[in-house]
Amino acid sequence: MILRQAQDNTPKKILSTNNFSSKEVTYLLLEVSKLDISYAKSSAPTVHDVNFTLDDGEILAIVGESGSGKTTVIRAILNVLPGGGHVSNGSITFDGQNLLTLDADGWRNLRGGKISMIFQDSGNMLNPVRTIGSQFVEYIQVHSDVDKKSAWDTAVDKLTLMNLPNPENILNSYTFELSGGMRQRVGIAMAITFQPKLLLADEPTSALDVTTQAQIVGELMFITRGSGASMIIVTHNIGVASYLADNLMVMSQGRVVEYGKTDDVINRPQAEYTKTLLASVPEIGGKRYV
Ligand SMILES: Nc1ncnc2c1ncn2[C@@H]1O[C@H](COP(=O)(O)OP(=O)(O)O)[C@@H](O)[C@H]1O
Ligand SMILES: [Mg+2]
Repeated sequence: MILRQAQDNTPKKILSTNNFSSKEVTYLLLEVSKLDISYAKSSAPTVHDVNFTLDDGEILAIVGESGSGKTTVIRAILNVLPGGGHVSNGSITFDGQNLLTLDADGWRNLRGGKISMIFQDSGNMLNPVRTIGSQFVEYIQVHSDVDKKSAWDTAVDKLTLMNLPNPENILNSYTFELSGGMRQRVGIAMAITFQPKLLLADEPTSALDVTTQAQIVGELMFITRGSGASMIIVTHNIGVASYLADNLMVMSQGRVVEYGKTDDVINRPQAEYTKTLLASVPEIGGKRYV
């Protein structure tokens, strides 16, 4: 664990131990340095020279046009790049651990535990011919040594946390019986089951209508801020990004064109690309977030 002094005045965890004499401290959870990612062996990297850090409890939003490399960056963190994608340069350090040297056992411990991922449509990752409950229970039992009853109770708790009414009914349902918003809440409930330190969310609300989108953004905020989890959220919606995130990273054509505190990026954008992006800001629920 790398401890360092908080450099801003956002609320940070205050350690009560004498070691730090109640000084505000925060720790570096994730450090991505000089990251290049390639899909084909010989071709030039698709993503070039990505650098960022994420402190304990922080939220980073990645925005940028389609194909700019946002998904590639967060998939690289979890080592789930498709199609021969691989890190060709740089480093990814999570909680003091070099992720690029982890073996299969190391990944099994990390994935779904300390780091978990939320996809655009969580319905897609669930089997349509099995009940949600049987899959949720299995997921819990694969990652922890608990009996069925206790796994079921945990699932009920997590669904309740995601504002899903009648969680028992949901567990007895199939994905096609749920709305997109409900399916997404189930996906998020599963992702937060083991209280991950880091949530990776890839366009978690893009497939939803505007009202449901705003609700789920609120729930993601509640969950991360409430549990002290950190999150990297990829989103097309710069309004969502500015509402949620401490820091903002803007990508274009495989490169980071701007990265900084959300307030700075929104109010004092440096890159032309960011300025263009900001010129067309959507509204959420009638409220402008920038
Ligand atoms: N499975 C894949 N195989 C080969 N190239 C890919 C694959 N997925 C993505 N890419 C390349 O990476 C680029 C960035 O894609 P992606 O990270 O999905 O962008 P974004 O999430 O910003 O829309 C794409 O333009 C494409 O060239
Ligand atoms: Mg993407």
